[in-house]
Formats: sequence, structure tokens, C-alpha cells
Amino acid sequence: MRRPFIAGNWKMTQDRASAVALASGIAQRVGAGNGVDVAVCPPSCYLDAVGQALTGSAVGLGAQNMYHEPKGAFTGEISAAMLLDVGCRYVILGHSERRHILGETDADVNKKVLAALAAGLVPIVCVGETLDEREAGKTLDVIRTQFTGSLAGLDAGQMKQIVIAYEPVWAIGTGKTATPEQAEEVHFDLRKIMVDCYDEAVGQTVRIQYGGSVKPDNAAALLSQPNIDGALVGGASLDVDSFMEIIAGAA
Ligand code: 13P
Repeated sequence: MRRPFIAGNWKMTQDRASAVALASGIAQRVGAGNGVDVAVCPPSCYLDAVGQALTGSAVGLGAQNMYHEPKGAFTGEISAAMLLDVGCRYVILGHSERRHILGETDADVNKKVLAALAAGLVPIVCVGETLDEREAGKTLDVIRTQFTGSLAGLDAGQMKQIVIAYEPVWAIGTGKTATPEQAEEVHFDLRKIMVDCYDEAVGQTVRIQYGGSVKPDNAAALLSQPNIDGALVGGASLDVDSFMEIIAGAA
């Protein structure tokens, strides 16, 4: 049985006070947990403060990005060890905004995934097609290419530690959610790819989150699909009540 996992990606929003208030509100309501893994991923400059606000709760801390090198002259970058040092357990890697706005490639994401795993972080690896790619019937090709490129060189043990987030680019921040059937089709294909590339155990173990305009009113239908194991939530994770409703939809 895969344990549901709901993570909030706060992207480049919040100030210090609102980030701490949001984290405290979520921590209070989640408490010791209820069978659903929950994490929040604030901007990196607030990781430390948010981590402190989460102390004693079951809510995990995640970063939105990292660099693959362990240390050195890499101005502006943050290493996996630094993320662990401020209390992170998770790191989002290969988010579509990093791929499409900041030019990250599958090879870049792959280096980060390997470095995160080596350091003991849980990578949340994002894949997803654009609208043009979907309309051209290329969704499965795109997903397969991103999967094999971003996760190259992982052995079965490493694969079992990662989380995949399927985030169709056309559904992110647009209010256009994939239907439960559209999302389930891709999640099913992703699981099949894992069985093909590894084995049944890997395919059945790895959790696959859906992301893209997940809201309280569509979460339960998405999360009830057999191969959707959680959600990576943007906008609706910035309000305690709506994030809690989404978490309730996974329980
Ligand atoms: P929205 O939930 O705001 O569409 O964002 C999804 C996302 O990109 C999460 O990583």
C-alpha cells in the first residue's frame, strides 16, 4: 500500500512572517499526522524559519531546487548538505518552471537527483508535457524521455526512494486541471515504464503525485484514482484551510 503524500509548493511567494504563519497553521492542524505524509516547500530563504515553525509536527520540510555539486565556487547555489542542515527531508527537482523558464535539462535534473539521493534527501522529480505536446499526441513519449533522462543511472533501491510528480504544464496555475481519467492514464503509463525499466516491486512502490490546479473541490476525485498517490499543490497550498481540505481528500 502506498502512503498518500501531499506537498505544498509555495514557489516564489510569501514573506518571512506569512511563511511562518502558514507553516504554523498547517503544523497545528496536521499535528502528529493521520496516515497521509505532508510536506511544505517554501522559498529557500525561509526554509530555516519554516522548519522551526514545523518542529514537533508530522509536516516535512522540502526545498524547491538545489545544485548537484557538494560545495565550492557556485555563486547563488545551494547544496544538498545545506538543505539537510536546515532540516529538509525533500527537494523538488525538475519542476516545469525550472525546465521551461530557467532552461533545466533532463541531464541537469539527473545530476541533482543523484546528488540528492547520495546526501539522503528524498527527491520529488517532476515530469509533464506541454499543451502542444499533448495535442500532438506526444504525451507518453515526453514522459518517457523525461523519466529515462532525469532518472538515468538509478538502481532499483534508489528508485524506490524517490517520488515522481506528474505535472502537465498546461494545468499548472491555469485553473485547468487534468481530469481524473487524463491524470490516471499518465500515472498508469508511468508505473508501466517503471515496471519495464526496473521490476514490479519498483513499479508498485514509487509514489506518483499529480500536480496542476489541484483544489479542494477536485482533490478527492483525483486522489481516488488507483495510481494517483498524492498531490503537489501550488496555489491552493497557500491557504491553511484549502490545503487541509486537500489533505483530507487523500486520507
Ligand atoms: P498550481 O497548483 O498553482 O497549479 O501549481 C502546481 C504546481 O506547479 C505545483 O508544483
